[in-house]
This record gives sequence, structure tokens and C-alpha cells, in this order.
Amino acid sequence: MSLAPIGVFDSGIGGLSILHSLRQLLPNEDFLYVADSAHAPYGPKGSDYIQQRSLAISEFLLAQPVKAIVVACNTATAAAIALLRARYPLPIIGVEPAVKPAALQSKTGVVGVLATSGTIASDKFENLQNRFSDQVQIVTRAGTSLVELIEQPARDAQQLLSLLHQHIEPMLAQQMDVLVLGCTHYSLIRTEIQRVCGEKVSIVDAGSAVAKELQRRLHENALTTSSTKPGQLQFYSNGDLAVQRLLLQEFWGEDVTLTPLTAP
Ligand code: DGL
Repeated sequence: MSLAPIGVFDSGIGGLSILHSLRQLLPNEDFLYVADSAHAPYGPKGSDYIQQRSLAISEFLLAQPVKAIVVACNTATAAAIALLRARYPLPIIGVEPAVKPAALQSKTGVVGVLATSGTIASDKFENLQNRFSDQVQIVTRAGTSLVELIEQPARDAQQLLSLLHQHIEPMLAQQMDVLVLGCTHYSLIRTEIQRVCGEKVSIVDAGSAVAKELQRRLHENALTTSSTKPGQLQFYSNGDLAVQRLLLQEFWGEDVTLTPLTAP
């Protein structure tokens, strides 16, 4: 089974930010990435819908088969990870806003979290906030329309910047000095976000924590590959393939094989 790939999924291309960290730490593992592009964005959809999509994609991944699943999406983790773990016996790793490292870093005592409306409204996020509420003040903002814009290859740079100003300025006004990127899509536009925040604000995401957790779970379950060759990558998407190709060029860089995801 250690020869099987690791399945990674997101509503779209956001999870590529997590995949970068996974590949860096585990360069010899094979990865199979699924972008559920036809159903993006997940953020504004209800948790029933996201659970149903997460189950469908997991069934597809298990049929390949994969040896572990990384839910490279904060929104799907919040809505569906408990369900996936209860149903499937393999290691399932999720991603949640990196509030802990942000709280440790903050000097003003104000941490901002930019995430989807689904993540912010979830019980999982409420629990996370409660765990740190005596250490720092957490200010949240739903990044409305950001995912839709990031998923467009011909996005207008000016439109992106003004949307970012709209979302980030209220948090800056509250003295935030650390911003948590609580949606994997946002890490893909980290440079633009840093520009809007200014140099005094530190930006954190969960990519390297997810990679370390995957490494630990593979090791614990004797699933680490014994290969010493660079791992293979396969991308699947149920979106428009021409669009996906452009997005992959922009956010992944290397040449990759893109396969249409016909089902589910
Ligand atoms: N990239 C996802 C996340 O981390 C989901 C974005 C969306 O589809 O709304 O939350």
C-alpha cells in the first residue's frame, strides 16, 4: 500500500498551496490532486452540500486507490472531516486556520482570520476561536468573492487589489498584526495580500503544519514510500479543462498531466 498515491482535494485550485508544502516535505511520495471545480466555491454552500461532495470525491480517491487523503480545504474540513473519518479507515488529514502560531506571534494581541463564510460559521471554527480567546482577540472576515476571482485565469489585478483592501482594512483598523489565511486559495495570492497588509503584518497559513501531520500519520501507519525517486503527480478536475490548464500554469508552474474528472 505504501506504493499507492496520496489523494488531495479541494473545491478548486486552492489546495495547490497545500500540495506545494506536501511535495516539499515528502518529495518521493506520489500525489493525486482532485479539483472539484464544477462545484466551486464551497464557501457559500451549506454543510450538507459540502459533505456530499467530500464523500463523492473520497469515494473516487479510494477507488484509485489512495493510501491517505488530505482535505486541502478549510471549508470542507470544517463541514466534513468528522464524517469522512467515521466512514473511512485510512489516514485523513484536514486543514484549519493556523490560529495557534498566529497567537504566539502577535504583539498587539489582535489576530485576523480571513476565511470563507462556511469556515467562519462552522462549529469547528467556533471551538478553535474559543481555545485562544483568552490569549488574543480574534477578528474575522469572510473573503466574499475572492475564491471566484482566484479561479479566473484572466482576473483583473486591480479588481483583486480593491477587493483585498475591502476585506483587510477593517482588520487593520483593529490593530491586527498577524493575519491567518484560513482558506487555501488565499495562500496562492499571498504576495498581493502582503502588499495590502503592509510589511508590519505577518501572514501565516497552515501548509507546513499539514505536511508535518501527513508525514507523521504515514509513518505511524507504516505507509511511507520506500521510493527514492521524485514522486509523480496527477491532477483531475471536473471544470473547463482549458481554464484549468491556465490556472495550473499560473499556480503550479511545472508541466502536469490534467485528466478530466467525469465522475463523481
Ligand atoms: N479552498 C477552500 C478553503 O480552504 C474552499 C474555498 C471555496 O471553495 O469557497 O476553504
